[in-house]
Amino acid sequence: MKVLVVGNGGREHALAWKLLQSKQIEQVICVPGNGGTASMERCHNLPLAVDDFEGMSRYALSNGITLVIVGPEVPLSKGITDYLQDKGLMVFGPVRAGAQIEASKAWAKALMQEAGIPTARAAVFTEAAAAKSYIKATGAPIVVKADGLAAGKGVTVAETVAQAESAVDAIFQGQFSAGEFVVIEECLIGQEVSVLALTDGVTIRPLLPAQDHKRIGDGDTGENTGGMGAYSPAPIATPELMARIQTEVLEKAIATLRAKGIDYRGVLYAGLMIAPDGDLKVLEFNCRFGDPETQVILPLLETPLEELILACVQQRLSELPPIAWKGGASATVVAASSGYPGEYEKGQVITGISEAEATGATVFHAGTKLNQQQELVTDGGRVLNVTGIGENFEQAIAQAYAGIKYIQFEGIYYRRDIGHRVVVSVKHRETP
Ligand code: AMP
Ligand code: GLY
Repeated sequence: MKVLVVGNGGREHALAWKLLQSKQIEQVICVPGNGGTASMERCHNLPLAVDDFEGMSRYALSNGITLVIVGPEVPLSKGITDYLQDKGLMVFGPVRAGAQIEASKAWAKALMQEAGIPTARAAVFTEAAAAKSYIKATGAPIVVKADGLAAGKGVTVAETVAQAESAVDAIFQGQFSAGEFVVIEECLIGQEVSVLALTDGVTIRPLLPAQDHKRIGDGDTGENTGGMGAYSPAPIATPELMARIQTEVLEKAIATLRAKGIDYRGVLYAGLMIAPDGDLKVLEFNCRFGDPETQVILPLLETPLEELILACVQQRLSELPPIAWKGGASATVVAASSGYPGEYEKGQVITGISEAEATGATVFHAGTKLNQQQELVTDGGRVLNVTGIGENFEQAIAQAYAGIKYIQFEGIYYRRDIGHRVVVSVKHRETP
């Protein structure tokens, strides 16, 4: 079987890597892919933009592609699935109507209220003055969210009323290209956990829970990023909590989508806040695999990925046996370009990947490419994800850090404390 994977991040490298472990997979084509997907056997890149639906469909139809797996939210929210399905292709990823669950926070909030899914109290505003008077009346801390897709940057957890008000101004001045609505939300406290679930539109099954580190700095400080590291299975998501997430969140979401006439087949990713008293609330839904969560979940997956994905696309997930996992734990550390999440340089030569992999770690490429001289160079803010697996978190985290030591490029930056919630000694990891 030939599979087309849409996207160019660490998530897509991990998807291609996992698919290629199966004998059923003849070839993976990544659109546009990165330096890592360009270098794997039976894998190559197709240099098209992720919203070039016509180009992808032409390629897929004339090259015997059986299945298309969509990584990022942007093509999903622009209707890639609707378009390719119309051409007769099998696509894993929700139709445009379903992708609204990520693309519009106001829509997602309304769905949660309709479904009775626990979530933070919220109000939606279409103009700044009303939003600000609500903020004044409610007080801080308070959370201000731009409605549309903002690559993880549209959310401000404001400590003061003034901060919240300037976040409202930034949104209505169009800083997030989605200035029509603002969602103001009660500020929740607790630990976040990501539960990615596979669904065929009727049945929904969670993958192992993961936690990521969103902040740029050690101790979870500084600016928000797309994610600086992750680990799985997150111990906070006990079997009891996972059972509640299944019935109180995932099943309700899928039933309500169905009731709206939306046939949602793909990943439903619930970002949850678990309060100290065990209370759970949904912070957000995403319509796709998480990044970097995928890079820690897939290395633990025993069931062939394409079996699960085909069962979702063909709506027969309920017929499969339970998803099998390898046991143990995994962790990934993101190597980023100096300056990220702000401005950073591209084009720095990367060395040390084979030495890193010789330690047993797996290196997923995120922002890399091969330049004209076929050298591997940096091409994004998050450059590589070095993943370790082991019998426990100590081993997994140690393997990831043992590997990343060998990676070199000008300005490399990574956090030294990935997994500090699950391994106390990580807090004291020395900075080399
Ligand atoms: P979102 O894109 O909605 O998940 O928000 C991004 C991040 O902002 C989340 O991962 C949380 O760290 C934080 N956040 C979002 N909503 C809330 C909330 N209601 N209370 C506290 N933190 C939040
Ligand atoms: N790691 C967060 C996300 O994928 O949205």
